[in-house]
Amino acid sequence: MPCNCCEMENKTFVEADAEADVKNYRKRGPANQTKLILEAIRSLGLRDASLLDVGGGIGTIHHELLKDVATEAIHVDASSAYLKVATEEAKRIGHEAQVKFIHADFTDVADELPQADVVTLDRVVCCYPNMRGLLKAASSKSRKAVALTYPREVWYVRAVMSVMNFFQRLRNDPFRVFVHPVAEMEALMNGEGLRRTSTRKLFVWEMSLYQR
Ligand SMILES: C[S@@+](CC[C@H](N)C(=O)[O-])C[C@H]1O[C@@H](n2cnc3c(N)ncnc32)[C@H](O)[C@@H]1O
Repeated sequence: MPCNCCEMENKTFVEADAEADVKNYRKRGPANQTKLILEAIRSLGLRDASLLDVGGGIGTIHHELLKDVATEAIHVDASSAYLKVATEEAKRIGHEAQVKFIHADFTDVADELPQADVVTLDRVVCCYPNMRGLLKAASSKSRKAVALTYPREVWYVRAVMSVMNFFQRLRNDPFRVFVHPVAEMEALMNGEGLRRTSTRKLFVWEMSLYQR
């Protein structure tokens, strides 16, 4: 279902970037912050799990978890270009039949989706102004765990993001990046019955695993 968010994400997350990302993934494997999500999910010891990947980009998380942890996945993304590249990559790997691809703002379609054992959001909350709506919807779909990465609340990340938003304003482009307060995200997840069981930090990104 195309939406305002999709229009904006379609302009920001374009096919040339998606193609570059997938080339990089084939050459080097998952990005460092994505590896933290993969390790956290694998640490749960799940088998034959269902996965819901919100804002999955080129689909790295399901490309990887369908090798061992998961047997089915739903990938919802607001960018049609990234979904196209993710679909092609799933075909190339031979996972196409196990993944359902949905082009939408996740908050618009969450009610219509089935629950999944694991829900992932890798670098997605930072692209979306309504963090509460996004995480509430994601939590409501998770039977066992939610793993997410987001920018760390440190001065240098805030500074870089402020500069990025400044140039977005100059370009008259409505897309913005956000450093949502970690304590607010945690309080919200706790209210949804999820507890943070692990947190790992890189220079820019932080990963938290929440479990029921
Ligand atoms: C920075 S990219 C991250 C992609 C991938 N998860 C990764 O880490 O490589 C953010 C992705 O989230 C998607 N996105 C942002 N907000 C979304 C929403 N509300 N619903 C669905 N997708 C969303 C964008 O279209 C984009 O593909």
